[in-house]
Amino acid sequence: MLTDVFSAAAPYLIQQDYAAYTPEQHAVWAELVGRVLPQLEQHASRAYLDGLEIIGLQQDRLPDLAAISTRLGPRTGWASTPVSGFLPAPAFFEMLAARCFPTTTWLRSRHSMDYTPEPDIFHDVFGHVPMHSHPVFAGFLQHYGRVCAETPDPFVLEKLGRIFWYTVEFGLIREAGAVKVYGSGLISSRAECANVFAGNCTVRDFSLDDVLNTPVKVDELHKLLFAVRSFDEIYAAMHEAEERARMGRL
Ligand SMILES: [Fe+2]
Repeated sequence: MLTDVFSAAAPYLIQQDYAAYTPEQHAVWAELVGRVLPQLEQHASRAYLDGLEIIGLQQDRLPDLAAISTRLGPRTGWASTPVSGFLPAPAFFEMLAARCFPTTTWLRSRHSMDYTPEPDIFHDVFGHVPMHSHPVFAGFLQHYGRVCAETPDPFVLEKLGRIFWYTVEFGLIREAGAVKVYGSGLISSRAECANVFAGNCTVRDFSLDDVLNTPVKVDELHKLLFAVRSFDEIYAAMHEAEERARMGRL
């Protein structure tokens, strides 16, 4: 029982009632995927596109989280674990540290296709989960969760949150000289993704110092993002951040 494994996250664990999704909700999912897929086939990273195949995501039906976890588990040990909504930080970090991605099960309505204030299943599964099939990214994300779970200092957590923001949510990677997206906030938002490729956003080589010195802005399209050359860079950066946090130098 997962409720025995987790303490902070235990109250938020739910079952996904897959049979309760309506034909209209499956149709909204299909439209959401159909709207971004052409853009992503052109601009998404190879790791993300491979991940879509690996987790067996279907365009015409909402994802069954248990089926996804069954495919993901043997590859990287990650699961897509249903939760009731937005999690407090300790619960979120506790789950990441255990390779369980807190996944919402509700879906936005047709009236808010472009934006939801809180993550829904489209953002969580379509945006995040394919990357969990990449072994290096998978290790980085689990490490991020563990370090944050062990950190009581809000200043340190805010700095570590910048790493999450500019990688997991809004990360870019250079592949054969071209900038590609892998962050879920870019994958699941047409406007954010288009903004990068319209030339409105400076793309700088990823560096831990730059990321730590760039505050998160949630109320406007990004003007600065960071591109890695391989996911080894974020894996190494997280180890460097852990070391600095331990020394009180983050
Ligand atoms: Fe997200």
